[in-house]
Amino acid sequence: MNQVLVQPKAYPTNLLQKDWSKRKLTHRCGQAFVDKVHDMEVRDDDVWIVTLPKCGTTWMQELLWLVMNDFDFEAARSEHLEVRTPYLEFNYEIHNDLDHAFAPVEALKSPRLIKSHMPLPLLPQQLWMKKPKLIYVYRNPKDYIVSRYYQYRSLGYFMSTTLAEFALKCIEEDRAAPSKDFEHVTEFYELRNEPWIYYTSFERMKLNLHQVIEDICKFLNKTISEAQIEQMLQHLSFEQMKKNPKLNHHWEFEQVRAKLKSEYEDNNFMRRGKAGGYKDELSADIIAKLEDMIQRNLDHYDLSLNQLLLLDDKAAL
Ligand code: A3P
Repeated sequence: MNQVLVQPKAYPTNLLQKDWSKRKLTHRCGQAFVDKVHDMEVRDDDVWIVTLPKCGTTWMQELLWLVMNDFDFEAARSEHLEVRTPYLEFNYEIHNDLDHAFAPVEALKSPRLIKSHMPLPLLPQQLWMKKPKLIYVYRNPKDYIVSRYYQYRSLGYFMSTTLAEFALKCIEEDRAAPSKDFEHVTEFYELRNEPWIYYTSFERMKLNLHQVIEDICKFLNKTISEAQIEQMLQHLSFEQMKKNPKLNHHWEFEQVRAKLKSEYEDNNFMRRGKAGGYKDELSADIIAKLEDMIQRNLDHYDLSLNQLLLLDDKAAL
């Protein structure tokens, strides 16, 4: 939870031309972990899923794992998602053992599917050079802020903070543009047309999951039959994922709760699964303040939220 200032040993200057010396970076795992990630060995056939927390990572991860594993639904149902496709930062956060930080990832057979929430400049240097396939999923910040609040409480954080207070805290933190989250997404947005990157949004997955599945298959050079697409749509529906014990992060949450030993609220990981759910969860006043913060950041980049979400101009957010 406590973020510390960190600096990578080098920046991805081959990917993006910008003044990297101005990029303020923080990470809760600290400098030694950041250095270790920088030097991490990346395999050519790795597939990376990178997101900001609560943007639909799990949804896309299960989709990717199935595409990469010949639509083996039985295997998917018999092992936790976090074991099949590890979260890079997790093992260190739980065990604080730098030497074995990447053990779960290193134990995987190729092709590996690796999840990370780290921003582009903190990802392994070999990733910028080897350019393995990378999928980035973005989501409306108003929805991911609400979603983060409930996830934090599921782990015992912010137990005496209301949702409105939490949103105000996020607004305060991101007031000075560019915020950490907007830097995270805009760096990948700029790279969205690179052949090794597939950039999408939670909202696009909600609008047309069929299309996203087809796009991913093409991106990963896999073929899929119409019957398999139907199976995928069924397996990846919110209702099915909510019922599936391997997709609700029980494996990870149990370890975090055992470590923190705090009181927590047992919220469903698959909570609402809506685009625009914030509208009936936040007051008009908080929504206006959030929109102001978001707009300030968008103005900094001269972008609209619809552009970042790959939605057409008229989509109501
Ligand atoms: P909500 O809390 O708004 O319901 P992540 O995996 O990045 O942590 O994102 C979790 C969010 O994605 C949660 O949002 C969760 O309900 C939503 N989600 C996961 N699978 C989904 C699905 N199949 N359909 C719709 N939303 C899904």
